[in-house]
Amino acid sequence: MSKIMDLQGIKSSVIEIKDLKTWFPIQRGILSKTAGYVRAVDGISLTIGRGEIVGLVGESGCGKSTLGRTIVGLEKAWKGTVFFQGQNLFTLNRRDRRQVTRKLQIIFQDPLSSLNPRMNVFDIVTEGLVEFGMIEGNRDDHAKRLLNEAGLEGDVIFRYPHEFSGGQRQRINIARAISMRPDFIVCDEPVSALDVSVQAQVINLLIDLRDTHNLSYLFISHDLSVVSSIANRVAVMYLGILAEYGSTVDVIDHPMHPYTIALISAVPVPGRDKKKRIVLEGETPSPSAPPPGCRFHTRCPEVMKVCRVKVPSMTRSGTRQVWCHLY
Ligand SMILES: Nc1ncnc2c1ncn2[C@@H]1O[C@H](COP(=O)(O)OP(=O)(O)OP(=O)(O)O)[C@@H](O)[C@H]1O
Ligand SMILES: [Mg+2]
Repeated sequence: MSKIMDLQGIKSSVIEIKDLKTWFPIQRGILSKTAGYVRAVDGISLTIGRGEIVGLVGESGCGKSTLGRTIVGLEKAWKGTVFFQGQNLFTLNRRDRRQVTRKLQIIFQDPLSSLNPRMNVFDIVTEGLVEFGMIEGNRDDHAKRLLNEAGLEGDVIFRYPHEFSGGQRQRINIARAISMRPDFIVCDEPVSALDVSVQAQVINLLIDLRDTHNLSYLFISHDLSVVSSIANRVAVMYLGILAEYGSTVDVIDHPMHPYTIALISAVPVPGRDKKKRIVLEGETPSPSAPPPGCRFHTRCPEVMKVCRVKVPSMTRSGTRQVWCHLY
């Protein structure tokens, strides 16, 4: 088993998340009193190895983006720790943090709104380089090299974001992200807004860049088929916590958690009996008042007495981790 696939604390880990919680206060009344918390991320631990792509799946609102945003410093953690190459990101002083967070990048779902419409491509891809004094040689040539790496012709550098297609805009976002020579990139639904024909091209680009630069990604997506085409490992999130985490083959082809099983059964597969689809009953509970016991018990087709009262502990099965009383 390679080090990358080892789920234990690994020497080659790039990101190590320990019991991370990101809660948002709910303010009420004219005095803005805190009336509770949205527990968007509510105790997640996972490790991402160098060169590894971890897929993160789960229904809308389960906390995927908040987890990604907290890792790169766009949200403040409530509790827990994120280590980047062994350094605790939450205890760094301001100067060190600025240098370190340069190596943590994020690519968003909507390629247009993440680009400043008043900046041309040249300024977009070299802005960070200038800020960090990282221009190598001629600035024009550096910009063209980055665009070429992202699959765009260098002669587009003086055009503006609105002059590009969705796929090309996402390539500009990718060029900007890699300009900072990152080690880790959160890809938050990077292909969800693109045509299916373009999705595969952007996925292939991300895989090529991972290979060339030995990058690691947290790849967030609703689309399980996209995740299984890119990820080495898959984390399944439900209401702020993990339900299952393991190699893509284990989790997607042989899911153990009833939630993962239901998610996978909902993916249309030609020839599969539609009746085999598991429809989860009931609404997703609010992340401000998660149910006691197993958070999934209110919708679980396999619910048992114990699930209503006791939080399931983690069970290991090979390299997989699963949080469910069935095991
Ligand atoms: N800044 C914020 N303030 C308050 N609540 C927030 C904030 N950001 C996110 N939330 C809440 O946290 C929960 C998780 O949101 P998040 O965007 O992380 O989910 P998600 O899994 O990325 O969903 P989607 O698949 O729709 O993108 C949701 O209930 C959301 O409303
Ligand atoms: Mg999201």
